[in-house]
Amino acid sequence: MDQLSATTAPSGAARRITSSAIRELLAVADRPGVISLAGGLPSALHFPTEEASEAIDDVLRNDRGALQYSSTEGDPGLREWVAARHGARMEQVLITHGSQQALDLVARVTLDVDDPVALADPGYIGAIQAMRLSGGRLVALPTDDHGLSVETLEEQIGAGLRPRLVYLVPNFHNPTGATLSAARARRLAQLADQQGFLIVEDNPYGEIRFSGTAPPSLSTLTDNVVTVGTISKTLFPGLRVGWIVAPVWLAPSLALVKQAVDLHTATLTQKVALRLLTRPGFLRDHLTVLRSHYSSQARILTEALATELGESLHVAPAEGGMFLWARVRLPDIDTQALLDVAIDHGVAYVPGSAFSVSAAHRSHLRLSYATVSPAELVEGARRLAGVILDGPERSRRRPGVSTRPAATSR
Ligand SMILES: Cc1ncc(COP(=O)(O)O)c(C=O)c1O
Repeated sequence: MDQLSATTAPSGAARRITSSAIRELLAVADRPGVISLAGGLPSALHFPTEEASEAIDDVLRNDRGALQYSSTEGDPGLREWVAARHGARMEQVLITHGSQQALDLVARVTLDVDDPVALADPGYIGAIQAMRLSGGRLVALPTDDHGLSVETLEEQIGAGLRPRLVYLVPNFHNPTGATLSAARARRLAQLADQQGFLIVEDNPYGEIRFSGTAPPSLSTLTDNVVTVGTISKTLFPGLRVGWIVAPVWLAPSLALVKQAVDLHTATLTQKVALRLLTRPGFLRDHLTVLRSHYSSQARILTEALATELGESLHVAPAEGGMFLWARVRLPDIDTQALLDVAIDHGVAYVPGSAFSVSAAHRSHLRLSYATVSPAELVEGARRLAGVILDGPERSRRRPGVSTRPAATSR
C-alpha cells in the first residue's frame, strides 16, 4: 500500500510548488458585477489585431517552413532581431515559449537542489514557482522605492550567503512597480563580478515607461547576467514568444535542455512575431499608444484612490507597467481576509500575501489598471474605499471570512 502511494504521488519537484493563488482568485473576480483590479493581463483593447492578421496571412501564404519543425535555438531572423535589440551576439539568444519558459530553463540549467536564489519579497509568482521547481532555496530581500535592496544582499553576502542566482525585475517590478536605481544596478553588477553569481534580469515591462528614467541594463554592466524578454506586454501574450540572452558559455546548455523539454518554440508564432516586430514603424507607434493608455489609466486610478482613501492608503506612484502597489495605513487590516468582503462588494484585487517569499505583506494589495474602463477604475476605487474604511469592523462581523488561497495571470 505504502509502495503504491509512493509510486502514485507527485514527484518531490512537483510538491515543491504551490498553485498560483491569482489563478484561483481570477475565477471569482470574473463574476458578473465585480470590477476586477486583480488580473495581470495586458489591455486586449490594444492588441494589434489588424496587423497580426496580416502577418499571419503573409506568413502562411509565403512561407511553408512556418508549419515545419525548426531549430531549438529559434528562428534566425528573430534571434538577430533580439540580439540587435540587446547589443548581443546571435549565438547568445535562445527563443522561448514566453519569458516564463525562459525563467524555467534558466533555473533548470543553473540550479542544483538547495542552491540559494536571492530575490525581492514580495516577488513575481512565476519566478518563485520556477526557482522552487528546480530546487532553488529562496532568499528574500526587501525592496523599496529604488527596487531590490542591494545593500541587504551585500550584508547577507558579508554574513556568508553565496547566491547562485539573483533574480530581479529592474523596471516596474511585479508586484511593487518599483524601478531599480542606477546606483544599485551598478553595485549589483560589481557584486556579481566579485562573487561569481548570475543576475537574472527579467524585463517584460521596460518598454512601457511613461515617466522617470530607466536604470542601465545590467547586461551593459557585467557579463554575469542572463536577460529575459518577451513580447507579451508589448504586443500580446497569446503568441507565447519570449527569449533569453545568455552568456556565451551558458547558451548551449540552455538550448540542450530546451530540446529535451519541447524541441523548439512554435515555428509559426516566431515568424508572425518577427513580421510584426520588423514591420516598418509599427512597434514604435504601437508602444506610443500603449504608453499613453497605461499612463492615463494609472493616473485615473491613482487620483481616484487618493480622493476616496486619502492618507489611509499609500500608493507608490506608477512610472510605467500595469500595476499599483498599495499599503493600507489603518490598524488591523488584513487584505487577504478582506478579499471575500471586497468581492461581495463588487471589487477584486490581489492581496499582498499572494506574492510572499517569506513576509506576509498583509497590509498590501496589488491593483491592475490595465484592462478595465476609466469609469470602472473610479467606481472600483469607490467600492474599495468602502471596504477598506469599514474593514476591521466587517472582519469582526464576519468572523468566518474564509482565507481564500492567495491568488494569477500573475
Ligand atoms: C515579471 C514577469 N516576468 C515574466 C512574466 C511572464 O510573461 P510571458 O511568459 O507571457 O512572457 C510575467 C507575466 O506576467 C511577469 O510579470
